[in-house]
Amino acid sequence: MIKKQIRKIANHFGYELTKRRSEVATENGVELYRYCKPDGSFDYERYREVQILGNKRKIANVWVLEENIAFLANYIQKTQGKVEFGICHGTRRGKEQEWFRKHLGCEVIGTEISDTATDFPHTIQWDFHEVKPEWIDAADFIYSNSFDHSYDPKKCLNAWMSCVKKGGICILEHTSGHEKATKLDPFGAHITQMPYLILTWGEGRFFVREILTAPAKGDAIHYSHFLIIQRA
Ligand SMILES: C[S@@+](CC[C@H](N)C(=O)[O-])C[C@H]1O[C@@H](n2cnc3c(N)ncnc32)[C@H](O)[C@@H]1O
Repeated sequence: MIKKQIRKIANHFGYELTKRRSEVATENGVELYRYCKPDGSFDYERYREVQILGNKRKIANVWVLEENIAFLANYIQKTQGKVEFGICHGTRRGKEQEWFRKHLGCEVIGTEISDTATDFPHTIQWDFHEVKPEWIDAADFIYSNSFDHSYDPKKCLNAWMSCVKKGGICILEHTSGHEKATKLDPFGAHITQMPYLILTWGEGRFFVREILTAPAKGDAIHYSHFLIIQRA
């Protein structure tokens, strides 16, 4: 009640009050939620626990849209030619690998940190910050709409790009819903910042080739784009 009154008075005088988010580090508008132990070191167990709880709470939801996957499959065929192997990261119910398999007719697997992974076909329980030795230089393409769940986006994108063949691509779905960092989605940035970040993280190993507009998006989303990142 008091909070509401204070907010109202602040608004009246042209100010906006927002809650201070001490766990979120903000630099140049890029946000990172920090999972810290009391001694300041990274709390991986807490990150993993939050992701698994979030996955189970939302297990009935599917974010990815088949129309977008069909569009991307067409783009991949047109630009990459015949493809054999793709990886999707952070896939919950595994619909993206199901639809890429249907539209491309090749091997596509998904990673999911939660133990619910084994309930869905072509999905392995795996933290996408880590690389399986057999994936190195092996994927024609990678797709993810879960990059905002990374606790360290530089480490994460470098791990993913190490799995892409020379000339292969990684597609990041980036929407207006990916701008703010929270405990569940620790990385947040506006789409306009992504090319700078990607080029800085890649140090010449990969680059943004194109930014595509998604043909379909949810009603609550203002924009939805695909960042096409190519391995140099
Ligand atoms: C926003 S949901 C998207 C799910 C799915 N791609 C869709 O479109 O419905 C993010 C998913 O990524 C998973 N996830 C989060 N962190 C992960 C990690 N480090 N490695 C693998 N999966 C992760 C979560 O458990 C969750 O299921």
